[in-house]
Amino acid sequence: MIHVKSEKEIDLMREPCKIVKETLEFVGSRIKAGMSTREVDELVERYIRSSGGNPSCIGYGGFPAAACVSVNEVVVHGIPDDRILKEGDIVSVDIVADKNGYHGDACRTFCIGEVAPDVKELVRVTEECFFRAIEGLRVGTPLFDIGYAVQQHAEAHGYGVIRSYTGHGIGREMHEDPSVPNYGKRGTGVRLRAGTVLCIEPMIAMGTWKVKLLADGWGAVTADHKPAAHYENTVVVREDGVEILTL
Ligand code: MF3
Ligand code: CO
Repeated sequence: MIHVKSEKEIDLMREPCKIVKETLEFVGSRIKAGMSTREVDELVERYIRSSGGNPSCIGYGGFPAAACVSVNEVVVHGIPDDRILKEGDIVSVDIVADKNGYHGDACRTFCIGEVAPDVKELVRVTEECFFRAIEGLRVGTPLFDIGYAVQQHAEAHGYGVIRSYTGHGIGREMHEDPSVPNYGKRGTGVRLRAGTVLCIEPMIAMGTWKVKLLADGWGAVTADHKPAAHYENTVVVREDGVEILTL
């Protein structure tokens, strides 16, 4: 069941969403070659806490860190560890914070130093997929129009759309209904109502969309080990469009 939020609830969600946005900006200003993914996680945890938020991922389903830090072939849910970032890497930093009893969730893929042009293009197009998805999104839009828009744009560039992870509703819970796939048939799915809060998060691979779970049970890598990018914001469906809470 989709829980539509009141204006009062949306106002409460602004704070965790702002913390997530600012944390990602902070990470973007600090992340560089030579840093371990664990150090990225430490930056995230400290920044969220000092902003008065709680890092929601810690302990979620047993996840051991504040941030999912996914490098190159790691698509999502990378557990921060001793892996050292190097020039040419792309790094997705996906974070969730809660405050006021509500969560905010966003992800950015950062480029470390000079990145190969084709990989840079993947990062750029993944971000563009998000903006294609929200173009024209408003009250009454069928849910799967989101995935349709993402898939059209990604596949036009020859990329693979990750199937086994999706966007989601968000609120008092990190993951609420509905599931928001990044693929789909135009004109299908529930018609979105005003006050629906969604995490729209294209996960796009340079090659195959098939993924394999790592032995840690969290990290997912592309089956062909080609890079993947991820871009996510928390948005509210409005009468005349969407309001992005994490941008
Ligand atoms: N943004 C990620 C998601 O929606 C956050 C996962 S936190 C984790 O899946 F604890 F599940 F890793
Ligand atoms: Co999410």
